[in-house]
Amino acid sequence: MTESTSAVASPIVRLPSVDSTQIYAARLAAHGAPDGTAVVAETQTHGRGRRGREWHDAPGSSLLLSVILRSSLPVARLPLLSLASAVAVAEALIAVAGVDARLKWPNDVQVRGRKIAGILLERRADVIVLGIGVNVMQPDLVPELDAVATSIAREGGDTDREALLSAVLDRVGQWRARLEREGFDPVRARWTALATTPGRHVSAEGVTGVARGLDSDGALIIETDAGATHVLAGDVVEVS
Ligand code: BTN
Repeated sequence: MTESTSAVASPIVRLPSVDSTQIYAARLAAHGAPDGTAVVAETQTHGRGRRGREWHDAPGSSLLLSVILRSSLPVARLPLLSLASAVAVAEALIAVAGVDARLKWPNDVQVRGRKIAGILLERRADVIVLGIGVNVMQPDLVPELDAVATSIAREGGDTDREALLSAVLDRVGQWRARLEREGFDPVRARWTALATTPGRHVSAEGVTGVARGLDSDGALIIETDAGATHVLAGDVVEVS
């Protein structure tokens, strides 16, 4: 393990291999690690995705990161950090990697409709562990992933992982601070500007209709034949 300091003066713990940066960061948090502490690994043996899924990586080919956030938000507002983080990751990818990153509700980051980064927000008591996985250098994907996933390399972007790490940490810090200071409106506006979901005919958690945008809790508003329904969590699929 090595430790360095980011531009915002929070420690970065770097690991060659770990079960999951989420587990490692949660352990550090339980031992009092400060707000903003980041854990970065070259590879994970048990990477975790949303909704109990696994997150696979090839060693050295991804940005695998967990950040400890000791937020001042009320507990009920903490899930909004995942939308703020999605905005932060998309902006970092656009600015540093030069790829056309867009958001799919709630927090998938996509390029050309294919997933390039995922975000996992986990709460341990009053601490948030924010997990971010970015596909950086996987140029060839197995056929079943080819249509649904991509990487910075595949999109012809800049694969400098250190520059991306620094941009992601900076922007997560900025959007988190904005959310805490100004509330959800600025995050919602930026999320909406970057998102592809609004206007699409979608299905989420058994609700089918036209996605209309986010309510003040970050829920997706879907206009159905029976009226507007708010979906707070889940996966969205496009329907034709
Ligand atoms: C998703 O399912 O879209 C979220 C994936 C989050 C993966 C990242 S990789 C770094 C961190 N450690 C984990 O075990 N998961 C997150």
